[in-house]
Amino acid sequence: MNPLNHVAIIMDGNGRWGIKNKNSRNAGHRAGLNTVEKIIKETIKQKIKFLTLYAFSTENWKRPKKEINYLFNLLENFLINRIEELHKQNIRLKIIGIKSFSNNLNKLLSSSERKTSKNTKLQINLALNYGSKFELLNAFKNLQKSKGKISEKNLKKYLQTKDIPDPDLLIRTGNTKRLSNFLLWQLAYSEIHFEKKLWPDFNEKDYNKIIKNYRSIKRNFGNI
Ligand code: IPE
Ligand code: IPE
Ligand code: MG
Repeated sequence: MNPLNHVAIIMDGNGRWGIKNKNSRNAGHRAGLNTVEKIIKETIKQKIKFLTLYAFSTENWKRPKKEINYLFNLLENFLINRIEELHKQNIRLKIIGIKSFSNNLNKLLSSSERKTSKNTKLQINLALNYGSKFELLNAFKNLQKSKGKISEKNLKKYLQTKDIPDPDLLIRTGNTKRLSNFLLWQLAYSEIHFEKKLWPDFNEKDYNKIIKNYRSIKRNFGNI
């Protein structure tokens, strides 16, 4: 049985769900937040130590302002209302991505990270304004500046995921088979599950089925 230490999720399909059910993409984002809560709970139950959630990509700035504002408001309210509870549950929150939002949100993100930094039950990495190509270019630049030897080990030191093991399992909901600039380096040997369901329809049962299947896969890492 494969150990499962780190699950990464591309939470896709909110917009389509919202249009289909409420005639509003933003309603889909709101509904998606309920799935986030369910999946966090189940991740703890399954004793998984790292959960990385792709919430906003560096390419998502192309979207209409109204949708972007709604998403960041949703996040801000979520943190204001839930960070205390996450902290009590011994959950650590870490942001990966470029923190260049409103002053308020930047502060809230930093204080949430600081507050939960010693927690040990589950680490949630929230990928926000995250792009893997940017992360890698930045890491190479910093490595070059440091005059360090170019090696896998040294490059890793400059990735935002430097203290996080690579994902064992990647799940992408929303019936689309692509990586959309997510953790290109870190996913080199992850098992990948593309899920047909849209993120707001995804539930614990679906998640557990994927986990069960993951546990039974033979992972070779190049070996036989
Ligand atoms: C993913 O859902 C959430 C974010 C990118 C914030 P989408 O908003 O991409 O949903 P679809 O793919 O348009 O349905
Ligand atoms: C990927 O979804 C980003 C997040 C889930 C945050 P997108 O919906 O932005 O991906 P593309 O643009 O369809 O590839
Ligand atoms: Mg999408």
